[in-house]
Formats: sequence, C-alpha cells, structure tokens
Amino acid sequence: MINLSKRLKKLSSIIKPSDSFADIGTDHGFVPFYLLENNIVNKAYIADISKKCLAKADKFFAGKFSKRAEFILSDGLKKFDENNIIPDRVLIAGMGGLLISQIISASFELAKRVKEFILQPMQGPEYLREYLLSHGFSIDEEYVIFDKKYYQIMVCHYTGTVQSRKTYIIGENILGDTDDKSSFLEYNIMYRRNIIKELKKSNSMENQRIKDKISLLKNEINIFEEKKFAKNK
Ligand SMILES: C[S@@+](CC[C@H](N)C(=O)[O-])C[C@H]1O[C@@H](n2cnc3c(N)ncnc32)[C@H](O)[C@@H]1O
Repeated sequence: MINLSKRLKKLSSIIKPSDSFADIGTDHGFVPFYLLENNIVNKAYIADISKKCLAKADKFFAGKFSKRAEFILSDGLKKFDENNIIPDRVLIAGMGGLLISQIISASFELAKRVKEFILQPMQGPEYLREYLLSHGFSIDEEYVIFDKKYYQIMVCHYTGTVQSRKTYIIGENILGDTDDKSSFLEYNIMYRRNIIKELKKSNSMENQRIKDKISLLKNEINIFEEKKFAKNK
C-alpha cells in the first residue's frame, strides 16, 4: 500500500470514481498509483513534459497495473489532444496557477469536455481562479490544506457561463471539511498585518504607492475577516 503525504492524500480523496483519469505533471506518479491500487479509477494516464520525471514514475510503477496505466510524454494536454484522448478527470497539481491556466487554454476544446479538473496551484491561486471563472468554468469545490504550507485546491468543470467575483484571493465556498480552513484565514490576516507593520516602519508613508499598497492589504484583510465571520455565524 502506498503511503501518501497529507497533500497527495487530500488530492486523491477528492477524485471521484472514474473510468479514466489523467495526472498532468505527475513527476513521481504517486497519485495515479494510489487511485489504481484502490480501484478508484479504471485507467490512468500518467503524463509529464519531462522524460526524466516520466521515467521516474515508470520506475516507481515497476510494471504494476500495466494494462490500466499509460505513460505519456506530453506538454500539458497536447498529446491527449493529438490522440483524441479525453480523460473523465484531470489532475494538475504542483505547478503555478499561470502555467495551469496556460495548459488548459492550450487545449481548450478538450478541456471543455473533461468532466472534472482537480487543480492545485503552488502559487497564484487568485490568478487561476479568475482565469477559470472568466473562461466559463464553474468552480464546484474548493479546499485548503496545510501540509508544511497552505495549499488551495479547486475542482471545476466547463459550463460556458462566464462569472466574475468581487475578489479572487479566496474561493467563494471553501469547504469546511478541513480544520486547516480557520488557520488559513488567520494566517492570511496576520501575514498582511505584518506587511502593513513593516511598510509603516519604512518611513515612506508619504509615498503614494505605499499608501495604495496598505489600502489594498487592508481590503484583503477585510475579505478574510468576512470569511472568518461567516464561518463563525
Ligand atoms: C513540482 S512537480 C509536481 C508533481 C506532482 N504533480 C505533485 O503535485 O506532487 C511539477 C511537475 O510538472 C511537470 N511539468 C511542468 N510543466 C509541465 C507541462 N507543461 N506539462 C506537463 N508537465 C509539466 C514537471 O516536469 C514536474 O514533474
């Protein structure tokens, strides 16, 4: 039985039973291995842009699930596009929000037909959230998980309805099934308060850019405070 990190366990637990699944940017291949081992998915496509990473995953599989696992060297979903493979569920984890959005954008017609994407950006979750909503994706589930640092996870699918939000720095309905949610809100508030403190110390308060930055940070603090309040109601 494979032993997953807290982050990878959470990602695996979100993936619903599927006929086919793809892990884009798999690196080690741990999530598809777990999903195959536990019969959560029937077939897994294990994909990476790097030959070295794909070979690492292949070595880890050591020939197991040979009929149900397919290793694909691919830049994002491009090889899937070329071969008309449309997995039911697609995981893209451990890359920046901008890169994830570029991968979806580069194979947009295919992305429209995927039942569900499970996305976990390392940076720029706000950028990815805005991209998804403004390009017709519905964000159906959002999670926060703490595993040495905070990670945000978005589950989404294409509907064609463009949406906009007052803010993209936090999801509308971060699911409350995690104890990490409250500490995540608190962390974001404290983080911004500390920056404000440092900016105020810098003696540049006359500088309009600093004033604007402080005002932006205060607005963001309010957004996180509102979430905290909504949760405690
Ligand atoms: C930090 S690792 C993340 C591994 C794993 N998904 C995880 O969450 O633990 C990022 C992986 O994405 C791969 N990658 C980067 N750009 C990619 C792209 N355009 N298409 C496919 N894979 C990519 C890298 O080669 C690397 O293996």
